[in-house]
Amino acid sequence: MVMNAPASDLLASRYRILYPLGQGMEAIVFLAEDTKLCGRLRAVKLYKQGIESRYIQERDILVGLQHPFVPSIADTIDPSEGAPSGGVVMEYVQGTSVLEHFRARGKTLNESLVLDWGIQLCAILDYLHNSLPQPVIHRDLKPGNVLLDERGRLHLIDFGSARWYKVDGLLDTVRLGTTGFAAPEQYEHEQSDARTDLYGLGGFMYYLLNQGRLHYFAQADDRSNHAVTARTRGIMKKLLAYERQARFQSAMEAGQAMEKARRKALSLWNLY
Ligand SMILES: Nc1ncnc2c1ncn2[C@@H]1O[C@H](COP(=O)(O)OP(=O)(O)OP(=O)(O)O)[C@@H](O)[C@H]1O
Ligand SMILES: [Mg+2]
Repeated sequence: MVMNAPASDLLASRYRILYPLGQGMEAIVFLAEDTKLCGRLRAVKLYKQGIESRYIQERDILVGLQHPFVPSIADTIDPSEGAPSGGVVMEYVQGTSVLEHFRARGKTLNESLVLDWGIQLCAILDYLHNSLPQPVIHRDLKPGNVLLDERGRLHLIDFGSARWYKVDGLLDTVRLGTTGFAAPEQYEHEQSDARTDLYGLGGFMYYLLNQGRLHYFAQADDRSNHAVTARTRGIMKKLLAYERQARFQSAMEAGQAMEKARRKALSLWNLY
C-alpha cells in the first residue's frame, strides 16, 4: 500500500507535513515542521498498515537511546491522531543516505572513505551493543539505513528491526534484515547478537567497495575488488565470516582493525 500525505495539513494538531523524505518497505517518512516549536524541522515516520508491532519496536528502542549519531525520538503519533499503524517523530538529519550518495558517485568510492565510514559505524555500534540495561542489536545495517550529513558524519537510522539482546533470550521469531546484509543466523532464526551487526557492516563495506555487488554467504569468494588493499579485504572477510566465532567479537575490535588499515592505506597512497 502506498501512503499519501495525511489529508489534514496538521498531523496530530501539531506537525505540518512538508514533503516525503523517503519511503521504505514498512513506512513513509515525511519532513515536517513542529508548529509548537517555532517550525523546528522533524522527520515523521508513519508505518504502513498491518505492522503496528514494528512501530512499537522502533518507538521503544529509540526511547532508550541517546547518541549524537542516532536520531532522537521527540514524540509519537497514535492511530487516533491520524497514523493508523502509529508513527514516530524524530530529530531530522539533514543529509542523504549513503545509498543515494554512492549511486550519485557512479558506484565508486575510495577505500579510505569507506574505512572512515566503517570506523564511524563501529563507534555507533559500540554504543548500541553496550547500552544499558540491555544491548541493542540493529539487525538491518545497510546503505539505505545510514545517512551522511554535510560534515561527512554518518547517522544510523531505522530501528524498526532492532531488538534488545537478552542473555538466555528466545530465538528471533521473524527473519528480519535485508538480503546481502543479513547474517546467516538471521536466516536460521537464531538469536542475533552484536556479531550479527558486524556481519551487516561487512555487507555494507563490501557493497560500497565492489560497485554495489551484494555479498552472498554461499558464494565461493574471492570475487572482491582487487584494487582494494589485502588488509581491507581481510577485514571484510572477517566481518562476513559465516560462523560468528570467526568474526570480530566486538565493534571496538573491528574499529581498531579499520583504523590500522586506514593508516596503512593512506601511507601507501602517499608514496605515489
Ligand atoms: N531521522 C531522519 N532524518 C532524515 N531522513 C530520514 C530520517 N529517518 C528516515 N529518513 C529518510 O526516510 C527513508 C526511509 O526511512 P526508514 O529506513 O526508517 O524506513 P523503512 O520503511 O524502514 O525503510 P526500509 O524498509 O527500506 O529499510 C530513509 O532512507 C531516509 O531517506
Ligand atoms: Mg530503512
